[in-house]
Amino acid sequence: MRIAVLPGDGIGPEIVVQAVKVLEVLRREGLPLELEYAPIGGAGYDASGDPLPDATLNLAQQSDAVLLGAVGGYQYDALPRLLRPEQGLLRIRKGLNLFANLRPAQLYPELANASPLRLEVVSGLDIMILRELTGDIYFGQPRGIRTLDNGERQGFDTMVYSESEISRVAHVGFQIAMKRAGENGVGKVCSVDKANVLDTSMLWREIVTEVAKEYPSVELSHMYVDNAAMQLVRAPKQFDVILTGNIFGDILSDEASMLTGSIGMLPSASLDANNKGLYEPCHGSAPDIAGKNIANPLATILSLAMMMRYTFARVDIAQRIEFSVRKTLQRGLRTADIAEAGMKKIGTDAMGDAVVAAMLN
Ligand code: IPM
Ligand code: MG
Repeated sequence: MRIAVLPGDGIGPEIVVQAVKVLEVLRREGLPLELEYAPIGGAGYDASGDPLPDATLNLAQQSDAVLLGAVGGYQYDALPRLLRPEQGLLRIRKGLNLFANLRPAQLYPELANASPLRLEVVSGLDIMILRELTGDIYFGQPRGIRTLDNGERQGFDTMVYSESEISRVAHVGFQIAMKRAGENGVGKVCSVDKANVLDTSMLWREIVTEVAKEYPSVELSHMYVDNAAMQLVRAPKQFDVILTGNIFGDILSDEASMLTGSIGMLPSASLDANNKGLYEPCHGSAPDIAGKNIANPLATILSLAMMMRYTFARVDIAQRIEFSVRKTLQRGLRTADIAEAGMKKIGTDAMGDAVVAAMLN
C-alpha cells in the first residue's frame, strides 16, 4: 500500500500529522504501508516555484492513494492564477483523472447539537454528494480576461461537459446508490443541474436519464440547483445520493457540511475509474488558525477511513477508524469548532492521540 502524503499549507501539515499517527498504528500491526511525502500548493511553490511540482505528480501517479491536507495561504494571494496554491489541487485532480468526488454528509449523533439546524431536521442525516471533479467551468476553455473595443475589460469562463464525462460519473452515482441501499433497499439519486437555463445542464439531464435505465432499482429525480440549495436546509433527509457537476457540487457540499455541525468533520474521496484515489478533508487550509494546534483533524482521519474503504477495499479497517472517532466524541472530547458546554476542549494533537487511544482499546 503506497501512500503519497501531501500535507500542503496552513493547517494541512498539523492535521496530516494526526492522520499519520493512525496509519502508524496500522503499520505497527502489520499493514504493509509505505508513506512518501511531497509538497503541493504554496509549499510546492516555495520548494520549486510550482504549486504542483513534477516530482509530486510523479509520486502521486506511482502511489496507490494520496493523502492530502489542504492548500492555500494569504502570502500567495497576489500570485498570478496559474501559480496559486489552488492550481496544485486542480492539476493533481486532473492529472490523476479523479473525476468522481465523494463528499458524505453524516450527522454523528454525538454532534447533534453542533448543527445550526433543529435536531429533527438533521437527526439521522446521511447523504452522499457525488461531485464531478475534472470538468465543467473549472477547466473549460476559452477563459480569461479580455479588453473589449470600448476599452472595458471582460472576464469569461466556459461551462462545458461532454457526454462521456457525464455518463461515467452518473454510473458511479447509481452504483453508489445501489450499494447504499443494500440487497432489497431502494437507492435514490437526485441529479442537480440548471437545465432551465443552461445548455450544458440540458445535456447533463438527458445523459443522466439515459444512464438511469441501466439501474432500474434506483429512483432518479432531477432538481434545479437553486431549489436544491433551499431543500438542503429545509428538508435535507429527502436526499440519498446527490449527483452533480463540478461547480454546483463545490457549493452544495460546503452547504451540506454545515448540516453536520462543522466542516471540520467532513472527509472526501476523489476517485479515478480504477478506485485509485486522493483523500482530503472538505475544508480548506484555514491560515488564520494554522500552527495554533486548534484545528480539527477528524475530517482528515475520516478521509483515511474512506481510503481504506474505496482504494484498499478494507471495510474492516475503515469501520475501525470511524468507530474510534465516534468513541472519542462519546468521551466528550472536542476541538474548538465542535465544542459545546460541558465538553472537554482539546487541541489538534490531543485529538489525534485520543483517536489512536480509541483504536487501541
Ligand atoms: C474544494 C475547494 C477547491 C475547489 C478549491 C480550493 C480550488 O473549494 O475542494 O471544494 O473549488 O474545488
Ligand atoms: Mg469547495
